[in-house]
Amino acid sequence: SGNGTCVVTGAAGFVGSHLCRRLLDLGCRVIGVDNFFSGHRDNMQEFQDHPRFFFHERSVTERNLLSDLAVDYGPPSVIFHLAAIVSVPYSVEHPQETREVNYLATVRLLEEARNLGCSRFVFAGSAAEYGNDMRLPLKEAYAGGETSWLSPYGEAKYRSSKAVGACGYGPRGVALRCFNIYGPRQDPSSPYSGVISRFAELAVQGEPLTIFGDGRQTRDFVYVSDVVEAYCRAAGLDPSAPKVPAGIYNVGSGTRTSVLELARLILNLTERGESIRFYPERPGDIRHSVASIDAIQAAMAWRPHISLEEGLRRTLRWM
Ligand code: UD1
Repeated sequence: SGNGTCVVTGAAGFVGSHLCRRLLDLGCRVIGVDNFFSGHRDNMQEFQDHPRFFFHERSVTERNLLSDLAVDYGPPSVIFHLAAIVSVPYSVEHPQETREVNYLATVRLLEEARNLGCSRFVFAGSAAEYGNDMRLPLKEAYAGGETSWLSPYGEAKYRSSKAVGACGYGPRGVALRCFNIYGPRQDPSSPYSGVISRFAELAVQGEPLTIFGDGRQTRDFVYVSDVVEAYCRAAGLDPSAPKVPAGIYNVGSGTRTSVLELARLILNLTERGESIRFYPERPGDIRHSVASIDAIQAAMAWRPHISLEEGLRRTLRWM
């Protein structure tokens, strides 16, 4: 079914909305699905009236979601499954709901995609699948086995990535284990928002940046357009590119940045002095995290193009 129709779940989310925009630019017909649990209609503003964009306010936990959509649009060729409960602390408070939304719904969508004859299924995995594994850089094979997940979120994402990447029948499944994604449209308003959106907002408002702990913890930050490019390659949208093998792939910069370095970079870019306030370490925080990106480089010739400084400039311009 190479009709160029894609379903994007989580279309009103931070990454999902950027993905929809790119798919429309590539000439695809895009069916967006979101229940606005954490997504925002505003995120879809610049493309919601596009003639090839169709939006449905529905939940991925609904049975027959894909077959219902196929009645109206025909069977889609690619499913991008990004909808999820995205807050780790919320997942700790609601483990059963997290399992239903972040794992069981994935398995059901995968089965529906198989029944509809979809050719690809691309899933939003997470660095949280590695739990407390400290063997850096993190390689795809590490998660599982001895892993202790630090949240129901990490566990459900792990199980989903496995189900998608190891599915040897039905659509070709690719799970992208994304590290710390940042960029325009990332919601800065919650205390659980990503550190970059928080710092950017605080800097723009002239407030001191809030560092939890000593600031020497490190993360692997990857800009949203680079992540979107990985999604498109994983989906095989460029017919001239070599076919991507099914499986699980890290998506990150492959480099570590400390929270303190990040704070200083943002303060420099916004021409603020040393305006940092230190708070106690956040409970459950991991110390260091960085992706090995050898596998995705080999399979998709993907590498990040936007440096942290450039990505921060773009994020700050959007604020
Ligand atoms: C991120 C993901 C999470 C995933 C995890 C897996 C986001 C928003 N969260 O969490 O979904 O489970 O990776 O590894 O991308 N910090 C501050 N000050 C702040 C905010 C944060 O110092 O105002 C620190 C945190 O304590 C942490 C670091 O910055 O040490 C990164 O925090 P955050 O952006 O929330 O991401 P992760 O904890 O890595």
